[in-house]
This record gives sequence, structure tokens and C-alpha cells, in this order.
Amino acid sequence: MVAPEVLARATALRQEIEQHNHAYYVLDAPTIPDAEYDRLFRELQALEADHPELAAPDSPTQRVGGKPLEGFAKVRHVVPMLSIRTETDTTAAGAHAFDALVRKKLDQLVRSGRLDAALAMPPIIYHAELKFDGLAVSLRYERGLLVQAATRGDGETGEDVTQNIRTIHAIPLRLKGEAPAVLEVRGEAYMRRADFERYNEMQRAAGKPLLVNPRNGAAGSIRQLDPKLCAQRPLAFFAYGLGEVQGWTDQPETHSGTLDALAAFGLPVCAERAICRGPDELAAFHDAIEARRNSLGFDIDGVVYKVDSLALQAALGFASREPNWAVAHKYPAQEALTVVEAIDVQVGRTGALTPVARLKPVFVGGVTVTSATLHNQDEIDRKDVRVGDTIIVRRAGDVIPEVVGILPERRPQPEPPRYRILDSHPVCPVCGSHVVRLDDEAAVRCTGGLYCAAQRKQALLHFASRRAMDIEGLGDKLVDQLVERSLVHSPADVYRLDPATLAALDRMGEKSAANLAAAIEASKATTLARFIYALGIRHVGETTAKDLARHFGRLDALITASRDDLLAVRDVGPIVAESIQQFFAEPHNLDVVQRLREAGVTWPETAGVQQSAGKLAGKTLVLTGTLPTLTRDVARDRIEAAGGKVAGSVSKKTDYVVAGAEAGSKLARARELGVTILDETALLALLADDQVAEQKNIDF
Ligand code: IVH
Repeated sequence: MVAPEVLARATALRQEIEQHNHAYYVLDAPTIPDAEYDRLFRELQALEADHPELAAPDSPTQRVGGKPLEGFAKVRHVVPMLSIRTETDTTAAGAHAFDALVRKKLDQLVRSGRLDAALAMPPIIYHAELKFDGLAVSLRYERGLLVQAATRGDGETGEDVTQNIRTIHAIPLRLKGEAPAVLEVRGEAYMRRADFERYNEMQRAAGKPLLVNPRNGAAGSIRQLDPKLCAQRPLAFFAYGLGEVQGWTDQPETHSGTLDALAAFGLPVCAERAICRGPDELAAFHDAIEARRNSLGFDIDGVVYKVDSLALQAALGFASREPNWAVAHKYPAQEALTVVEAIDVQVGRTGALTPVARLKPVFVGGVTVTSATLHNQDEIDRKDVRVGDTIIVRRAGDVIPEVVGILPERRPQPEPPRYRILDSHPVCPVCGSHVVRLDDEAAVRCTGGLYCAAQRKQALLHFASRRAMDIEGLGDKLVDQLVERSLVHSPADVYRLDPATLAALDRMGEKSAANLAAAIEASKATTLARFIYALGIRHVGETTAKDLARHFGRLDALITASRDDLLAVRDVGPIVAESIQQFFAEPHNLDVVQRLREAGVTWPETAGVQQSAGKLAGKTLVLTGTLPTLTRDVARDRIEAAGGKVAGSVSKKTDYVVAGAEAGSKLARARELGVTILDETALLALLADDQVAEQKNIDF
């Protein structure tokens, strides 16, 4: 017999740990630090080790995975696991087609006297939810205890994957509250994108195989015979329906009510769901989710519409293993299979040769994709992409299409050779200069510098870009011509172009030539920060350029700065300092600067400040989502003017996260780390304070 106080302690620990699990994995709102959680967990493990009679199937220690299996046992589904009909029309019209079908069926039922007309009155109430992209599973709870988990299989018979499912922390081992005698919960096991990336990052570091995408990650993990392997994969779960139910006294009468009840039992239910009255509201849900698809944090392949009333669902019934009361309305696929026809390189501003896969055209993410970036040699090696390979290409949102992975079994025979940038391009394809790969760099670079037309073009485009000299109208088509016709060799030549020369270029009328000439003229009055950024010094981005301008105040002070002077600037480290010194040690760079000044490029100079005195001095902020009135650029400028710094990602060092509409993972991360979150009003108040403070200084 276990002593009562030991049993009481074990029970208390189990309850507390499961509460933290629920807060962390289901509610996404952790309640205690990781270290504290670990301490509780280890205490429970020790108790159970000392008292084997304490063993219990719903103990959180039982999630780590038991012995590997020989194979999966079969599980017969008492209530079959059906699939959903897919509406092929991907526009809003799909919602109307589904509604028309439901109403037609209901009309037939009313006319044949099998349904009360009052129940079939439009608008029909629907429930709209997401179509998760993972693996369907059925969880069987008996008197609240998780006793079995199964895959869908052919819908009638699946596989027993209980051991693996127990490793998913979001799935309760015991339901909260008064649980029915039998409750089968149907839902999707999936992998969050950030977890997928983190997992692959770890695998990459360990030189181990990578997961192709989150869906394969989820499906593959659950089919692992060794539950310890599944336990290492960070899976999640969303409940979306029911299987067999026995003895549920106050069972809800709607699907939405069912999901609410499942959430109350402690099961994860996705918050992105809505009651929709009629097809217009379904279509609006479809469009709203599509717009936010890439910021959800996990993959979906569409939305699902379901008739909300369970009585109507029962009346509508099934046809060929698909319910008449549900439909999946898909979005264009973000991944597709295609073939690599060639591998080319592109030469960038810093001379990096970026390998690009030329693809057999394929429709993905709503557009036809013909090429995808391969980043660098390491990436090609890691993915082992070769010409002729069949690959998975992914295009999500506006991001550049990427090669996700190859299908080794489809590689042509005999095998095509490995691709090596340096072998294919010992010299730059644009200027013929030597190509090198420095020891500590991933990139392979052309050594031609501004002699290389590709680098010159990119340098000019950068020089003219909006956040640099802001020469409106000087885009890539014009830059191509200016460089190819030898009209412009360096940025300084831009200021020698006259309207007549510009008007003689292709696609240039007199009016647009005059506009461009005016934009070139207007760009002469600039700021030191823009000018430094426009020079395109390696490792000097916009933020560093601003810091340098603020610190030194005058260009000559920057040009003559010693290494130590440079290292005194906020966020300037040895690599940046060296790059700046190298840049200004190059006579032709000094010559370009000189000629730009002679051409009339000017900026106000100051004595420089060592420390920014603004209200946000030393503070790091992260912007996320859409703010009601400020654009990103304006918000950033104002924060920086107050001495603050804008970073791209949230970390422990972040002081504030400014969140607008549709803020996604960064906001979640901020909550996780307990970073102060501001809305636009709060940000403006902080900035206004700052302006008041400055004003006061002036008055004194
Ligand atoms: S309901 C009777 N709801 O889609 C209807 N399924 O073809 C049963 N799926 O592999 C399914 N998200 O795993 C339903 N919100 C959702 C879903 C969903 C994803 C998957 C399901 C199955 C397939 C159905």
C-alpha cells in the first residue's frame, strides 16, 4: 500500500502538471517558467519510480513513449470516419453552390413529409472552420480516460496509434469535468510551422534527415512504430467532430455547441471558426481566412462548411461515404510537384552568385512558377537538388518560391551529376571575373565588383531605391539600359543624365524623361543616413546607416573613423567596422563620393551625438500586423527618431511589441515571453511624451 500522503502528492502533481500542459499546449498561454515545470515533472517521475504501485495510464509521465511496436493493431471504427466532398470552385461561388445543394435536399425532405418545414427555413445556419492539413485521428475516451487512438485508415478500419498519440501534449489523457461514458473525438494531428522549422533546424545541425513539410511531419510521426521517435516530434491537435458517443446527458444540439463542449473538456479546438447565417457569410469567412492564411502559424488547405444543427445533419445524411451536410472549400495549393530543367545563377549587388532552379512551369499558390531559389551551395548540397530531379516547390503568400525537397525515387537514371556552382561557373556569367568562395561564407562571389555589370545594376537599383536616394522612376528596365549602353558606370553618373539622353531610351517619352530628370534633381537634397545606406557598403543596412549618421553627424567623420571609433557605435561589431573601413580605403569609392558631392548631393550635417537622448533610447521594438493609421515605414521612422530601434523578431531583449490588426506569431511570441504589447494609440502616447520632452528642452 502506498502511504496516503504519497498518493495525495502524486495526484496533486499530476493535476498541476496537466493544468500547465493545458495552459501551454491548448490555450497557448504558459503559466509557469519551463524550469519550474521540469522540477514538478521530475518530482513526479521520482515518486513513481520509488512507488511502482502509483502507476497510472493518465499520468503525464506516461506521455514519453513506451516500447517500439512490431506493427500497428487494427481498430474498427464503430462510427465510420468519413471524408468530405470538396467543392472545386475556389471562388466565393463555392459557398453558394453548397448552400443551394443543402436547400434543395432540405426541400425534398420537407415535401416528402420527413422534415418539419420550420427547420428548413433559410437562411440555413452553418458553422465555418478551417481545413487542417495533417492526419485525421480518432481519440476514444471512456469515462474521461484516453483509452485508444486510431488513424482513419480506409474509414472503416484504422490503425491503433495510442502510444504515439499519448506523446502529444495538447491531447488530454483525462478529460476535464463530467465526461460521458464513451466519447470519441475526431480531429487532426498536425505540426505548427514554427515547430516544423525548429525541428528541421535541429536535424540539420545534427546532420540528420529533414521533414519535407509539416503535414508529412505529422503523418510520418504518427506512423512511427517507435513512440520515442514520435515523442521527439512536436505535434499538435485540433478537435473537429465526434465518433461514437454513449451516455452524454446534456449533449449539445449543434456542431458549434459540440466544439464548445469539447473545448470545455480540455481538448484543443481552433479559435478560427464562425457561425455563418447563409452563404454570403460563408464566402466572407472563406475570403477573410484566405487573406490571413500565411499568418495562422500552421498549414491549412481550405475551409470547411458544416450545417450547424445536428438534427438537420441527421436528416441530410450521407451519399457515397461523404456527408451531405459538409463541404471542403479549398484554396489554391501552395505546394506542387515539378521538374528542374536547369540550374542557373544570378549575380547580386554584393557579387553573390545565387543558384536558381529553372522549373517546368507549374501552377502553385495562385500563380505560374517557373523558377525557385536554391539560396547557396550548402542548400543545394543539403537538399541534393540535381538537374532532372522531380521536386516539391512551395509558394506561400508573396515569398519567393522555394524548393522544399526532392523525390529521390523519381531521379532519372543514370543519375545526373551533383551540381556545384564553382564547377559550373568558375568565372562570373556576367563579367567573366573570377568566382571565389571564402572559407567562412556560404556564398560564392564574383570578384568583379563594380566592373561587373550585374553588380553595377544592382548597386544602382539599391542607390535609387525608396529608402536610399529615393529616385522615383529609376527601375530595373531603365537601369538595364543605362548600364548596357554605358551611360552610367557608377551612381555619380546618374546626376549627369540630361532629359534628352533619358528621352532617347526605350519606353521613355518626353514627359516621363522630364519626370525622371526632376526626380533625380530632387533626390540631391537628402539625409546623411540615406546617403550612407545608398552607398551599399556590405553589412551596412538601413538601421546601421542611421546609427552611423546619428553618431558621426558628418560624412568626413565617418570616412576617417578609426576601428575603435566605429566600434563605439551602437550595434557595430568587428565585421561591420572592417567592412566600412575597407569601403573607404578603396580609392574609387572615395572618388564616387567626391563626384556625388560635386554633382550637388547634399545633406544637413551635425556635430553628431554619442547617445541618442530620445524617450525610446536604448529600447528595441518589434512591429507586427497592420496599424490603423501609421504605415510600417512611418512607424519605424518615428520610433527611430525617438532613439528606439526596430527589430524584425521578438526575443527576450525586445522591450515592446507594437501590434496591429492580424498580428500573428510575433504577438503570440511576445505573450509567451511576457513582452509589453502596445497598440498604435499606446505607441503614439509614448512618442508624444517624447515630443513634449523635447519641446520642453527647447523652451528652457
Ligand atoms: S470533418 C464527416 N472538419 O479532411 C466529416 N475534417 O475529407 C468528417 N479535415 O482527412 C470530417 N479539417 O482529417 C472535418 N475542420 C475539419 C477538418 C477535416 C481537416 C480533414 C479530415 C479528413 C479530411 C476529410
